[in-house]
This record gives sequence, structure tokens and C-alpha cells, in this order.
Amino acid sequence: MLSRTKLRNKINGVIYKSLIKPICFRFDPEKVHNLFIRRGVFLASHETTKKIISSAYYYGDKSLEQDILGMKIKNPVGLAAGFDKNGELVNILGKIGFGFAEIGSVTDRRCAGNPGIRLSRLPEKKSLWVHLGLNNEGAMAIYERLKKSKRDIPIGVSIAKTNCIETADNKIGISDYCSSFKIFSKIADYIVLNISCPNAYGGEPFTNPELYDSLLSKVDKLQCEKPIFVKISPDLSKEVLNKIIEISGHHRVHGFICSNLTKKHNLGKGGLSGMAVKEKSDFLISYIYRKTFGKYIIIGTGGIFSAEDAYKKIRLGANLVQLITGMIYQGPNLISEINEGLVQLLRKDGYRSISEAVGSANYSDKNKN
Ligand SMILES: Cc1cc2nc3c(=O)[nH]c(=O)nc-3n(C[C@H](O)[C@H](O)[C@H](O)COP(=O)(O)O)c2cc1C
Repeated sequence: MLSRTKLRNKINGVIYKSLIKPICFRFDPEKVHNLFIRRGVFLASHETTKKIISSAYYYGDKSLEQDILGMKIKNPVGLAAGFDKNGELVNILGKIGFGFAEIGSVTDRRCAGNPGIRLSRLPEKKSLWVHLGLNNEGAMAIYERLKKSKRDIPIGVSIAKTNCIETADNKIGISDYCSSFKIFSKIADYIVLNISCPNAYGGEPFTNPELYDSLLSKVDKLQCEKPIFVKISPDLSKEVLNKIIEISGHHRVHGFICSNLTKKHNLGKGGLSGMAVKEKSDFLISYIYRKTFGKYIIIGTGGIFSAEDAYKKIRLGANLVQLITGMIYQGPNLISEINEGLVQLLRKDGYRSISEAVGSANYSDKNKN
């Protein structure tokens, strides 16, 4: 017999797939996204609607809880950067079932993003084509909003360099990062240095080891007490990746987000999410975990569509996972489905908690997915 949660998730899934998604997928993805944000803001502004959302979507279990760098995280499934760019949904993301969320990427200056069509669905690839170019309201406005929020889950802030011609100068680029960093270092639960946006003017200069070192040296001087993560590209060569890992060891870096969108596709500009990143992300997680003996916290991001996908990333070395694309193709019920599925998978493999399963695929052949 189906459990209450399974039944609820099944009903939500059927409603999403047979009603909401077919309607939404007939319209421009960015317009639909903006509409969802507006609806989310409304739902987040009333206690009653928050309770309704929670009873429709929330799922919790003791085995999913972790203490990560002092953050109490109720489950390992987070919202990846790029969905709530302006931090408008932080009051409701925990009710939908996320254990943590990352807002942004935020840039120091307000930014309109790239012109023209900049978001498309690729259903046959289970991916999204993204060329948004870091559109956001700017660090100060988002800081003011976050200050007033009543969040119930850890909120990370992803920081990128403003997408404009001036910040292509590397010194200006670094001070642009640092300016946002200072603004959020007190209010965010963790901070992410996004050095891997594939859609900004001047490319990804801070994946260059020397520039990466200079950026981290300046960030060290800001004496932030919050955990710092670096979000990396899935397209890095092994040589550059090794350098980035090595340099990170000389600075105040607590972990890596593996990974951002991939630029390896034949659609010209932009980056791809979802299935197109899945294997690359899995590879990065395992590579970093093995190379650093689990020293860093790893957040696995890219192509999570099921509990099995999330579990694989965890067993490869991810302490936490994040998603966007899976939720768009399968609905917000996916978060609870993954969490519920993770509890079953942990039990099946004899683990009492997520932390026991982290990295297990690297040192044992049992329980292979
Ligand atoms: C619409 C969209 C916007 C995104 N914007 C950002 C961003 O601003 N900053 C960032 O670090 N990653 C951004 N990403 C990348 C995601 O955070 C994530 O790394 C990637 O999509 C892989 O996860 P997924 O397959 O679950 O979507 C964006 C992704 C999508 C789909």
C-alpha cells in the first residue's frame, strides 16, 4: 500500500504533469518563470498559504538531517542558484520542502542580463538552454529584502561579477565581487563565489589559476566568518581543476559546488542544465572527493530527476545536492519524492543518516547504483 506521503506526491505529480506543465510549456519560459515567482511571493506572504503549501509538499525525516559547517540542514535537497535570483521566495522555500536554498547569482550592480531570447526548454534532452546573463536587482536591493525575510532554512547567496564591460578589467572585477561579498557576509548563511557563469561579458576569467588566487586573497582579507563555497564549471580541464583545488587549499574555502551549466553543446552561445550536466557533475564530485579525501563540503548540482540521481551524487561524495531543471520538468513534488526516496535508499543500504552514505561509492563496491 502507498504511504500517505507517496500518495500525496503521486497526486501532486499527476496534477503537475497532466495539467500545469502542458499549459506552462506552451508559453515563453522566462515569462512562466516570472509568473511562478509572483505566485510564490503571494503564497509566501500569508501564514495560511504557507501552511497549505507545507502540508502539500513538506517531508521530513531524522535520517536526512545534517550539521554542515554549523548550518542545521533538515534535508540535503536545496534550490540551486538561478531560480530565485532576487531572493523573493526565501520565506516559502522551506515549506515547499527544500532543506536549504541559494539565491542569486547576485551582482554588485543591478543588471538587466543579456538581450533577446535567453531561456529555452529542450525536453528531448531534459535540459534548459540558459543565456540570461546574471539578471538581478543588485546586491543592496537584495540585501534589504533578505534582511526583512523570515526564513526557516539556511540561505546561501551566490555572488558573481556584474555582467558589464567595466568589470572585464580584472582589478575592477575583483572589487566588484568583494563589494557584494561584504554586503552579504553578515546576513547569508553561506556565500558562493560563482566563477563559472558561462553567459557574462568577458567569459570566466577567474578560472584562470592566477586570477583565482588573486580573487581569493582579496576575499581572505574581508575576514568573513561564514562558510565560503566556489561554484565551478563542468567544462574545466583536469589541469585547471587541479590548480583550482590546490589554490583553494591556501585560502578560506570550505567547499565546491559541482557544477554550473555546461558550454559544451552545439547551440552556439549559452549554457545547458539538466541531463547535459549530469555526468560531468558526477565526475567532478567524485574527483574532488577522492583527491581531497573528503576535506571539502561538496554540493552536487546537475541533472537530478530522482532520489536515485541524488543518492548517486551523495555516494560519490556530495554532502548536499541542489536542483532546478528537475523541478521544472517534474514539478515541486520532486523535492519530497527525492527526500522520501533517499530515506528508503539509506535504509536499504543500512545507513542511519545521509552523512554515513557520503562518499561511500569511493571506498566500497557494495550498494552500487
Ligand atoms: C534558468 C537558470 C538560471 C541559472 N542561473 C544561475 C546563476 O545565476 N548562478 C549560478 O551559479 N548558476 C545558475 N544556474 C545553474 C544552476 O544553478 C545549476 O548549476 C545547473 O542548472 C545544474 O542544475 P540542474 O540540472 O538541476 O538545473 C542557472 C540555471 C538555470 C536553469
